[in-house]
Amino acid sequence: MIEKTLIVLKPDAVERQLCGEIIQRFERVGLKIVGLKMMWINKKHAEKHYAAHSSKSFFNGLVDFITSGPVIAMVVEGIHAVSLVRKLVGDTEPFSSAPGTIRGDYSHHSYEYTDNKHIAIKNLIHASGSKEEAEKEISLWFSPDELFEYSTVHEKHVF
Ligand code: PPS
Repeated sequence: MIEKTLIVLKPDAVERQLCGEIIQRFERVGLKIVGLKMMWINKKHAEKHYAAHSSKSFFNGLVDFITSGPVIAMVVEGIHAVSLVRKLVGDTEPFSSAPGTIRGDYSHHSYEYTDNKHIAIKNLIHASGSKEEAEKEISLWFSPDELFEYSTVHEKHVF
Protein backbone atom coordinates (compact mmCIF):
# COMPACT_ATOMS: atom_id res chain seq x y z
CA MET A 1 0.00 0.00 0.00
CA ILE A 2 2.96 2.33 0.52
CA GLU A 3 3.69 3.71 -2.93
CA LYS A 4 6.13 6.11 -4.56
CA THR A 5 5.04 8.46 -7.33
CA LEU A 6 6.67 11.03 -9.62
CA ILE A 7 5.66 14.68 -9.57
CA VAL A 8 7.08 17.23 -12.00
CA LEU A 9 6.49 20.94 -11.38
CA LYS A 10 6.47 22.19 -14.95
CA PRO A 11 8.05 25.43 -16.25
CA ASP A 12 4.85 27.42 -15.57
CA ALA A 13 4.97 26.45 -11.86
CA VAL A 14 8.67 27.36 -11.60
CA GLU A 15 8.35 30.64 -13.53
CA ARG A 16 5.25 31.65 -11.56
CA GLN A 17 7.21 30.97 -8.35
CA LEU A 18 4.54 28.60 -7.02
CA CYS A 19 6.83 25.68 -6.17
CA GLY A 20 6.96 26.29 -2.42
CA GLU A 21 3.18 26.53 -2.11
CA ILE A 22 2.64 23.44 -4.25
CA ILE A 23 5.22 21.33 -2.43
CA GLN A 24 3.66 22.38 0.88
CA ARG A 25 0.35 20.81 -0.20
CA PHE A 26 2.02 17.42 -0.58
CA GLU A 27 3.93 17.76 2.68
CA ARG A 28 0.94 18.80 4.73
CA VAL A 29 -1.05 15.64 3.95
CA GLY A 30 1.92 13.70 5.25
CA LEU A 31 3.47 12.55 1.98
CA LYS A 32 7.21 12.07 2.35
CA ILE A 33 9.62 13.66 -0.14
CA VAL A 34 12.18 10.96 -0.95
CA GLY A 35 13.80 12.68 -3.96
CA LEU A 36 13.85 16.24 -5.32
CA LYS A 37 15.88 18.14 -7.89
CA MET A 38 15.75 21.01 -10.40
CA MET A 39 16.42 20.01 -13.99
CA TRP A 40 16.21 21.51 -17.46
CA ILE A 41 15.41 18.41 -19.48
CA ASN A 42 16.31 17.94 -23.15
CA LYS A 43 14.03 16.90 -26.02
CA LYS A 44 15.09 13.24 -25.85
CA HIS A 45 14.17 13.00 -22.16
CA ALA A 46 10.83 14.77 -22.79
CA GLU A 47 9.99 12.46 -25.71
CA LYS A 48 10.69 9.41 -23.53
CA HIS A 49 8.57 10.84 -20.72
CA TYR A 50 5.61 11.50 -23.03
CA ALA A 51 6.18 8.43 -25.28
CA ALA A 52 2.66 7.10 -24.62
CA HIS A 53 1.25 10.27 -26.22
CA SER A 54 3.54 10.36 -29.28
CA SER A 55 0.65 9.89 -31.72
CA LYS A 56 -1.42 12.74 -30.27
CA SER A 57 -1.76 16.04 -32.09
CA PHE A 58 -0.51 17.94 -29.05
CA PHE A 59 2.65 15.81 -28.57
CA ASN A 60 5.12 18.35 -30.00
CA GLY A 61 3.55 21.13 -27.96
CA LEU A 62 3.89 19.04 -24.80
CA VAL A 63 7.57 18.37 -25.50
CA ASP A 64 8.25 22.01 -26.37
CA PHE A 65 6.56 23.22 -23.21
CA ILE A 66 8.28 20.89 -20.71
CA THR A 67 11.68 21.70 -22.26
CA SER A 68 11.03 25.46 -22.30
CA GLY A 69 12.50 26.06 -18.84
CA PRO A 70 13.65 24.37 -15.66
CA VAL A 71 11.35 22.00 -13.79
CA ILE A 72 11.38 20.54 -10.31
CA ALA A 73 11.13 16.77 -10.26
CA MET A 74 10.24 14.98 -7.07
CA VAL A 75 9.37 11.56 -5.79
CA VAL A 76 6.98 11.33 -2.87
CA GLU A 77 6.04 8.30 -0.83
CA GLY A 78 2.91 7.48 1.15
CA ILE A 79 -0.21 5.35 1.43
CA HIS A 80 -1.82 5.04 -2.04
CA ALA A 81 0.52 7.88 -3.05
CA VAL A 82 -0.22 7.60 -6.79
CA SER A 83 -3.96 8.22 -6.53
CA LEU A 84 -3.63 10.56 -3.55
CA VAL A 85 -1.32 12.86 -5.52
CA ARG A 86 -3.65 12.82 -8.56
CA LYS A 87 -6.55 13.76 -6.26
CA LEU A 88 -4.60 16.70 -4.80
CA VAL A 89 -3.45 17.81 -8.28
CA GLY A 90 -6.94 17.76 -9.88
CA ASP A 91 -8.18 17.18 -13.43
CA THR A 92 -5.75 17.51 -16.35
CA GLU A 93 -7.69 20.50 -17.72
CA PRO A 94 -7.34 23.35 -15.18
CA PHE A 95 -10.71 24.84 -16.21
CA SER A 96 -12.44 21.59 -15.10
CA SER A 97 -10.32 21.13 -11.98
CA ALA A 98 -12.26 21.54 -8.76
CA PRO A 99 -11.45 24.41 -6.40
CA GLY A 100 -9.26 23.07 -3.62
CA THR A 101 -7.11 21.09 -6.03
CA ILE A 102 -3.73 22.50 -7.04
CA ARG A 103 -4.70 23.00 -10.68
CA GLY A 104 -8.14 24.31 -9.71
CA ASP A 105 -6.66 26.84 -7.30
CA TYR A 106 -3.69 28.08 -9.31
CA SER A 107 -4.56 27.76 -13.03
CA HIS A 108 -7.50 28.10 -15.42
CA HIS A 109 -6.54 27.15 -19.00
CA SER A 110 -9.17 25.24 -20.98
CA TYR A 111 -8.55 22.79 -23.86
CA GLU A 112 -10.72 25.01 -26.08
CA TYR A 113 -8.48 28.02 -25.42
CA THR A 114 -5.14 26.23 -25.82
CA ASP A 115 -6.22 24.20 -28.88
CA ASN A 116 -7.35 27.41 -30.51
CA LYS A 117 -4.02 29.09 -29.80
CA HIS A 118 -2.02 25.94 -30.64
CA ILE A 119 -0.22 26.04 -27.32
CA ALA A 120 0.31 23.42 -24.61
CA ILE A 121 -2.09 23.45 -21.72
CA LYS A 122 -0.40 25.14 -18.75
CA ASN A 123 -1.49 22.88 -15.92
CA LEU A 124 1.51 23.33 -13.59
CA ILE A 125 2.17 19.69 -12.75
CA HIS A 126 2.69 16.23 -14.14
CA ALA A 127 1.86 13.36 -11.79
CA SER A 128 2.11 9.64 -12.60
CA GLY A 129 -1.23 8.07 -13.53
CA SER A 130 -0.75 4.54 -12.20
CA LYS A 131 1.67 2.45 -10.11
CA GLU A 132 3.20 0.98 -13.28
CA GLU A 133 3.62 4.45 -14.82
CA ALA A 134 5.15 5.72 -11.56
CA GLU A 135 7.78 2.96 -11.52
CA LYS A 136 8.72 3.64 -15.15
CA GLU A 137 8.79 7.41 -14.71
CA ILE A 138 10.77 7.34 -11.46
CA SER A 139 13.48 5.30 -13.15
CA LEU A 140 13.56 7.73 -16.09
CA TRP A 141 13.92 10.81 -13.87
CA PHE A 142 15.90 9.53 -10.85
CA SER A 143 18.82 7.19 -10.30
CA PRO A 144 18.58 4.93 -7.22
CA ASP A 145 21.21 6.96 -5.34
CA GLU A 146 19.05 10.10 -5.67
CA LEU A 147 16.25 8.51 -3.61
CA PHE A 148 16.46 8.47 0.19
CA GLU A 149 15.10 6.36 3.04
CA TYR A 150 14.38 8.11 6.32
CA SER A 151 11.58 8.45 8.87
CA THR A 152 9.26 11.41 9.33
CA VAL A 153 7.19 12.14 12.44
CA HIS A 154 4.10 11.28 10.37
CA GLU A 155 5.22 7.68 10.19
CA LYS A 156 4.83 7.61 13.95
CA HIS A 157 1.38 9.24 13.98
CA VAL A 158 -0.25 8.58 10.59
CA PHE A 159 1.20 5.50 8.89
S1 PPS B 1 -2.97 12.07 -17.89
O1 PPS B 1 -2.49 12.97 -16.82
O2 PPS B 1 -1.83 11.41 -18.55
O3 PPS B 1 -4.00 11.13 -17.40
O4 PPS B 1 -3.68 13.03 -18.84
P1 PPS B 1 -4.06 12.85 -20.37
O5 PPS B 1 -5.37 13.53 -20.52
O6 PPS B 1 -3.92 11.45 -20.82
O7 PPS B 1 -2.96 13.75 -21.03
C1 PPS B 1 -1.64 13.34 -21.21
C2 PPS B 1 -0.74 14.54 -21.28
O8 PPS B 1 -1.11 15.33 -22.37
C3 PPS B 1 -1.54 16.62 -21.96
N1 PPS B 1 -2.76 16.94 -22.72
C4 PPS B 1 -2.87 17.96 -23.57
N2 PPS B 1 -2.00 18.90 -23.92
C5 PPS B 1 -2.45 19.81 -24.84
N3 PPS B 1 -3.66 19.82 -25.39
C6 PPS B 1 -4.54 18.88 -25.08
N4 PPS B 1 -5.75 18.88 -25.66
C7 PPS B 1 -4.16 17.88 -24.11
N5 PPS B 1 -4.78 16.81 -23.56
C8 PPS B 1 -3.89 16.26 -22.72
C9 PPS B 1 -1.77 16.57 -20.48
O9 PPS B 1 -1.43 17.79 -19.87
C10 PPS B 1 -0.89 15.42 -20.04
O10 PPS B 1 0.41 15.85 -19.68
P2 PPS B 1 0.83 16.00 -18.15
O11 PPS B 1 2.23 16.48 -18.18
O12 PPS B 1 0.67 14.68 -17.51
O13 PPS B 1 -0.12 17.03 -17.60
